[in-house]
Amino acid sequence: MTRPAVGWRCVVCGTTVGIAEPFPWRCPRSTPADRRHVLRVVDHRPPAPPVDDPDPFVRYGPRLAWWASATANGLDHDDCTALTRAVVPDATVTPFGRSDLLTDELGLDVWVKDETDNVAGSHKFRHLTTILLQLLAAEQLGRLVDRPPLAIASCGNAALAAATLAARVDWPIDVYVPEWMDDAFGVRLDELQARVHRCPRRSDDPPGDPAVHRFRAAVAAGAVPFSVQGPENALCLDGGRTLGWEIADAASDAGVGLDAVFVQVGGGAFATCVADALGAGVRLHAVQTEGCAPLARTWELVQAPGRELSGQEIAERWHELMAPWPDPTSAADGILDDETYDGLGVIAAMRRSGGEPVVAAEEDVLAAHDLAHRAGFRASHTGAAGLAGLLAGRRHVAGGERVAVIMSGVAR
Ligand SMILES: Cc1ncc(COP(=O)(O)O)c(C=O)c1O
Ligand SMILES: [Zn+2]
Repeated sequence: MTRPAVGWRCVVCGTTVGIAEPFPWRCPRSTPADRRHVLRVVDHRPPAPPVDDPDPFVRYGPRLAWWASATANGLDHDDCTALTRAVVPDATVTPFGRSDLLTDELGLDVWVKDETDNVAGSHKFRHLTTILLQLLAAEQLGRLVDRPPLAIASCGNAALAAATLAARVDWPIDVYVPEWMDDAFGVRLDELQARVHRCPRRSDDPPGDPAVHRFRAAVAAGAVPFSVQGPENALCLDGGRTLGWEIADAASDAGVGLDAVFVQVGGGAFATCVADALGAGVRLHAVQTEGCAPLARTWELVQAPGRELSGQEIAERWHELMAPWPDPTSAADGILDDETYDGLGVIAAMRRSGGEPVVAAEEDVLAAHDLAHRAGFRASHTGAAGLAGLLAGRRHVAGGERVAVIMSGVAR
């Protein structure tokens, strides 16, 4: 049998799914009792050259899995471009350049990707765009007749991005939020016509976030997991790569090579995607805060000298190695995921590239936010947390190295 040029493969159990499958959200062996599976794109095609277009989802469209799926099912380049324009007519390749202020203050060559001005103010829309495009392609191909609602559990950047995209194509969306969500944020979601569900803890709830329980129940009842976590929807790991491709191309256009990138990690989809796109030549340092550092704890367990676990062993022992962090807390409140859902991807990327996790003290989080604003970036504490990692993790950078951070979310 010839191997497919592009398809899906579960990094945990090895199950493969064909690229033409219309809804390849989760590994076929993922169950409500064991959700620890994650499909990843396996792509043996040479990377398609960038299309000359300011929209990254057109520019890098032919590299994306949703596009490969759509074309395998009979859509052509123009069809895919038209669908993209319906969802993200305003997405842009965001600026990337050396920050003189950060370079001077840190005494390192610091380059910044500024994502604060993109759709809905963060990079989150990039993960969600490819899920929506996969759905729109299925609809155009007659594989989806009635629109199931989209479902997401979030009360931050991801919820805003999800409601923004859904509104553009009039797709119904249910947003499951914690009981304590800020009212002002609820108003913004209402304005986008999202159906917002506050989720108090119920007496019969298992441990964990009640909003996530309601989200999963909705998905079990037929909703589309419009999620920014790979195990819930693999398509989110497709579009997230566009940001890394932009950095790689901008660095190459500027004639510079990057040595390392410090990326803030919550669920880990973001770092997984950026590292995938940048390749093994750029060291990935995954940044968490001292108030929520489950990945750093896992790293200690899997890297123990003399008994380093293989990627397969980590996948098999995911449950035991990635226990939820008790009581997460930090001003960087967008990366307080108690579990690094895409931790397998982040660990693999750090190992491939020779990177390590960094845990930022809370004072680094505050200092990085301040420094980012002084350097002209309107980032939130979460958005500037990669820079906090650089402040905390200077020892990981040798003199003369060139490092990148990503300001991924705007201050509100
Ligand atoms: C601005 C911003 N940056 C980074 C992240 C981290 O992304 P991930 O959860 O995929 O690790 C988040 C997550 O919510 C975020 O809102
Ligand atoms: Zn699997």
